[in-house]
Amino acid sequence: MTKSILGLTALAAIGISMSAADSARAESISAFCAPTEYELCMTAATAWEEKTGNTVTINKMPALLDDAIPLYQQLLAAKSTDVDILFLDVIWLGMFKNNLLDLSTLIPQEDQDAQFESTLGAAKLDGKLVAMPSYMDVGLMYYRKDLLEKYGKEPPKTWAEMEATAKEIQDAERADGNSDMWGYTWQAKSYEGLTCDAIELIASNGGGTIIADDGTVTVDNPDAVEALNMAKGWIGTISPEGVLNYDEEASRAVFEAGNSVFHRNWPYVWGTSHEEGSKIIDKVGMMPLPVGKAGEKSSGCLGPMYYGVTKYSENPEVAADFVDFITGEEMQKMRAIEAAYNPSIPALYEDEEVLEVLPFLKDTVDAFADSAVRPSGYTGTSYNRVSQAFYRTVHDILAGQADAEDALHQLAGRLEKLKESR
Ligand code: GLC
Repeated sequence: MTKSILGLTALAAIGISMSAADSARAESISAFCAPTEYELCMTAATAWEEKTGNTVTINKMPALLDDAIPLYQQLLAAKSTDVDILFLDVIWLGMFKNNLLDLSTLIPQEDQDAQFESTLGAAKLDGKLVAMPSYMDVGLMYYRKDLLEKYGKEPPKTWAEMEATAKEIQDAERADGNSDMWGYTWQAKSYEGLTCDAIELIASNGGGTIIADDGTVTVDNPDAVEALNMAKGWIGTISPEGVLNYDEEASRAVFEAGNSVFHRNWPYVWGTSHEEGSKIIDKVGMMPLPVGKAGEKSSGCLGPMYYGVTKYSENPEVAADFVDFITGEEMQKMRAIEAAYNPSIPALYEDEEVLEVLPFLKDTVDAFADSAVRPSGYTGTSYNRVSQAFYRTVHDILAGQADAEDALHQLAGRLEKLKESR
């Protein structure tokens, strides 16, 4: 297959030069990698190159993962051979499954068996193994251990407790001259991350996960309305107005600058908040997210990430070998130790060297067990449109542009139609 104009345009858009793409030879492959873990991908690439003698070009994905969807769509529609390996969010697997190679015979069985069964299972679609898990992601609550101690507060069990503690500490710190202090930073920009943050609030309040596994649209209910109205009340009080435009990285910056008591994010923030440049080294606590109502469970959004090989790769075996390597035990251990990425390989949860740097790993396993799963299984190829409709509605509610009850009712009607175009 020759390179298409479309493919090259797409590659140029993310800064891959034509000469780099053109220099592809038999044992040269090319992979996408998330910008937040670029250095880790480079480490894996170098180790694999040394081991195999092949070369792999690592391409940084757009800063906002959502923006990779149209880029991938463009490359795949053009049957581009420029990129062999895609980095994939769990919610994209259904969307891209028809363009991904079946890895079941290309990845050694023992490496498949080493993964969490349910995480691997989420990548088994239409009888194919379309991708291999690389790490687990689940929404977690970070907090300032030092400030909670200073004010004699316990880590909150409910969102209402979180709100009260956040407000009290924020106000006291401001009165003490720390005028930049906020109570809670999270992600309320209009994007996929808001689907995660909102589903956590709603599910932990007994309000479900937008669409149930059997396809029933559940989002139009009083528990969901209550959860979103509570969160709306945070904007401008315990969370800056700017939170309506915060993604993970923007909100993390405020927390790590020392200006937020509580912070919702993924496991990698344990790593970044302890790196040089962070103002809160050794001041950070972490726990599963609070619950909305007694009897409900903490419902961190589940977001494992994967690597898959495109059907158009000219080097499928070499590409699968790299996928096997970067998702294998050695590299997952390296990522856990270097940057707090939570492995998708259960054996690493008992590895002493991993536990030494990630002592809280047991808590995240509990968080995986209680997690909220986005409705990508049922909605498949229409997931993106369903999620967009949801996060736009939630954003309108949080920004005070829509009434929660009316907006969720209207959304449910739209989802009834959207969910079937899968
Ligand atoms: C993280 C999660 C992913 C989620 C995204 C939202 O990358 O792993 O599943 O979709 O955040 O921003």
